[in-house]
Amino acid sequence: MGVTGTSPDQLIPVFDVRVTREDLDAVAATLRSGWLTMGPRTRDFEIAFAQAIGARHGVAVSSCTAALHLAYLAAGIGPGDEVIVPSCTMVATAAAVLYAGGTPVFADIVGVHEPLVDPGHVEALITDRTRAVVAMHFGGYAAAADRLAALCRERDLVLIEDAAHSPLATLGGRSLGTWGLAGAFSFFSNKVLCAGEGGLLATDDDEVAAFARSRRSHAMTTGSWDRHNNGPSHYDVPALGFNYRTDEPHAALLLSRLRRLPEEIDRRRKITRRYRRLLGEIPGLIVPFSDESVETSSCYVMPVMVCDPARQGPLRMALREVHGVQTSIFYPAIHEFTAYRSRFPGVSLPHTELAARCEITLPLFPHLTDAQQDRVVEALRAELTS
Ligand SMILES: Cc1ncc(COP(=O)(O)O)c(C=O)c1O
Repeated sequence: MGVTGTSPDQLIPVFDVRVTREDLDAVAATLRSGWLTMGPRTRDFEIAFAQAIGARHGVAVSSCTAALHLAYLAAGIGPGDEVIVPSCTMVATAAAVLYAGGTPVFADIVGVHEPLVDPGHVEALITDRTRAVVAMHFGGYAAAADRLAALCRERDLVLIEDAAHSPLATLGGRSLGTWGLAGAFSFFSNKVLCAGEGGLLATDDDEVAAFARSRRSHAMTTGSWDRHNNGPSHYDVPALGFNYRTDEPHAALLLSRLRRLPEEIDRRRKITRRYRRLLGEIPGLIVPFSDESVETSSCYVMPVMVCDPARQGPLRMALREVHGVQTSIFYPAIHEFTAYRSRFPGVSLPHTELAARCEITLPLFPHLTDAQQDRVVEALRAELTS
């Protein structure tokens, strides 16, 4: 039973988080325990999440951005190294390459029907400076991780997955986030598994896991929990580390919410199927991805593309002002942001640029009602057929 959330007559938000009594109890018990930084609940969550996606290791960190940074460092990325990333993603995918001292090289997406990185373009961008390739699974829909993994093997490159959107999503029966050297997950407040802030690095590689565990807490050789429990009272710092720790209240909330995640993703898929059926009848709209891909997606967001880019702004405005429907844009292209245009001038990615001008992200969350969904669909129909 939800204790928070929107009522049906309010603005329909693009995301909405429902916190249950069980979530509140789990966090309250943690606060009462008196141990707040990383400890046993963090470890339990790491084990549960890694098990849920079939990874050998899960290393909980403060954000997906931190997980990406650690993944790039673990892959040995540094000055002079190029990392091929999509531009149709959240800015952190590329920013973390820069934190590591590497150079992001932007690849285009397949097209507005499939806003996922194009393996053909990735291959064309490989140079003798390329060290890694990043697959980002937009909305929880699988990028071609199989093809990219094969390409990376063939060309001696590292595959990293930005799996921020894709807990419990799969490709060919294998979890997204487990196809490369490391997968980075986000538990930011609008994600399918959310706790306000948080992230996790998943890997099958023992050394990468040990590297991430060490570097997330200043590379100290022992942690506070170990010292508290009569472990060694001294520590050394053999390398440069970071404060990328998470904490026990976040871990307790994530553990509680992880139990509901399979059923919430089922709901998301059901809502997505219904959206696809209803939206398919509206002229002037493209609904990306295939019906089949919904069945293995985490269905994090519901993207649509307007055929006429000139309609994106006015339509979003009308949806909000006239119909009370909030929307978002996934994603403005990274290479078009000021900070990136000035560093990487002359990048041209026609499909990514078109998607950025056509995409509208519709409300999607597990407790979206049929009535709310009908309101969204009717609002689009009214605007696009007027
Ligand atoms: C694709 C993608 N990558 C990375 C991130 C960064 O996640 P976080 O906010 O947990 O650092 C996000 C979050 O919005 C994202 O959507």
